[in-house]
Amino acid sequence: MKIMSPFFVPPTATSVTPTVSLWSMSTLELPVLNQVSEPSAPSNGMKVYVETYGCQMNVNDSEIVLGVLHNQGYASAEHPDDADVILLNTCAIRDNAERKIHERLNHLKHNKRQNRDLVVGVLGCMAERLRTKLLDEKMVDIVVGPDEYRRVPELVETARGGEKAIAVKLSRVETYDDIVPLRTEGISAWVSIMRGCDKFCTFCVVPFTRGRERSRALQSVVDEAKSLWDSGFKEITMLGQNVNSYRDEVSGYDFADLLAATARAVPGIRIRYSTSHPQDMSDKLIDTMAEHDNICKYIHLPVQSGSNRILELMNRTYTVEHYMGRINRIKQVMPDCALSTDIIAGFCTETVDDHQRTLDVMRAARYDGAYMFAYSPRENTKAWKMGDDVPDEVKSRRLAEIIDVQNEIAKEINLGEVGKTHAVLVEGPSKRNAAEWKGRTDTNKLVIFPHIDQRGYVVGDTVHVTINRTTSATLFGELI
Ligand code: 5AD
Ligand code: SF4
Repeated sequence: MKIMSPFFVPPTATSVTPTVSLWSMSTLELPVLNQVSEPSAPSNGMKVYVETYGCQMNVNDSEIVLGVLHNQGYASAEHPDDADVILLNTCAIRDNAERKIHERLNHLKHNKRQNRDLVVGVLGCMAERLRTKLLDEKMVDIVVGPDEYRRVPELVETARGGEKAIAVKLSRVETYDDIVPLRTEGISAWVSIMRGCDKFCTFCVVPFTRGRERSRALQSVVDEAKSLWDSGFKEITMLGQNVNSYRDEVSGYDFADLLAATARAVPGIRIRYSTSHPQDMSDKLIDTMAEHDNICKYIHLPVQSGSNRILELMNRTYTVEHYMGRINRIKQVMPDCALSTDIIAGFCTETVDDHQRTLDVMRAARYDGAYMFAYSPRENTKAWKMGDDVPDEVKSRRLAEIIDVQNEIAKEINLGEVGKTHAVLVEGPSKRNAAEWKGRTDTNKLVIFPHIDQRGYVVGDTVHVTINRTTSATLFGELI
């Protein structure tokens, strides 16, 4: 059996709204559905439906695309069957992510049969990777890469005129700074602060699909956070492939400066961020997190492997010793800070010894959560040329061991939460039981608690919950 699926074990339970890693949606491989909304310009009578796959960055990109289209008079459709334009915002990080899209496109044949004028578009990383190959698929009308979203209205028009259209140029400057994303959720907002990646890990397609790193101006991010707070948002998550590389080109401010400026400007808002690279996890950043109560004490720090030999082959540019030095510094400065990671099982040439070293790092770092993946070779990456010599059964076995170790650790850590009281940002009714509500701690742990009407709290309030029971994924408690 070929296993390509990623697995995630706490701090988040699976939910359609992604919450932790920049990549958590890749673990779900589920679409995020858009809500109905009216255009912000005079209506052109057209309705668009956007389905988002992949990471949180894609969720925010879809909001940007909807923002662009609304400015041109498009409304959002509630269901694909009501739409004049269906756009799939895609992920290319692993093979199974792309397979899902091909399946979805196949399904959309029915929609095309019912509505001959329907425009179907593929956006995002898969569009950038496969380019004109996607146009060969009969039901695809437009293909748009991550830096060309301003052109979506024009490309839709071309398609409506009967011609297929493609725009996949990558940019060194595009940050969509001036586009107001059309957000669909009430209390927590994604805010992209930079785009692209210059790290070139040998297994990863992102530098090819999203291009070179570029950052937004510090003031524009701070202003966006202020305006989100003013319109009722209680939490923001700053997004980037590698937020630690953030740099305001004009002022020279770095990511720690951006966090501090936002924390000071909007003291009531909770601030999260994702994703960090261990090489750039500076002391200044750790100290800045510790200094501000409204910067959440939670860090996603992908390790990928516990073997220096494999890290070198992956071009991760750090050693296990450096990585553990960062973890120890974080724990020393912020003893209650939660940690999560990404791990790849079965990278080229990985031996039993390399694999054991990964398990050792997990036991030493003691992650609250982890996204765990079987290595999936990606065409045109450096690792593609190294081969894929670890058999699928071995990858599966190692991945299963990694998941078991992580489950055990998360279970132990969460048991230690029993008796503690946490400030929880209320998100709404829990999925399983409407009499129970859910929310998240500062450390990003999901908390379920009985809903007590008389207390009069609502979604977006912060309540205090004492934990009385835990699993490896969730904390349960009582309101105090
Ligand atoms: N195969 C498996 N996992 C991958 N990731 C990135 N590329 C691949 C690949 N080719 C994982 C890494 C990264 C996360 C976003 O996805 O763990 O941190
Ligand atoms: Fe990919 Fe590495 Fe960049 Fe992360 S840091 S997006 S894994 S190349």
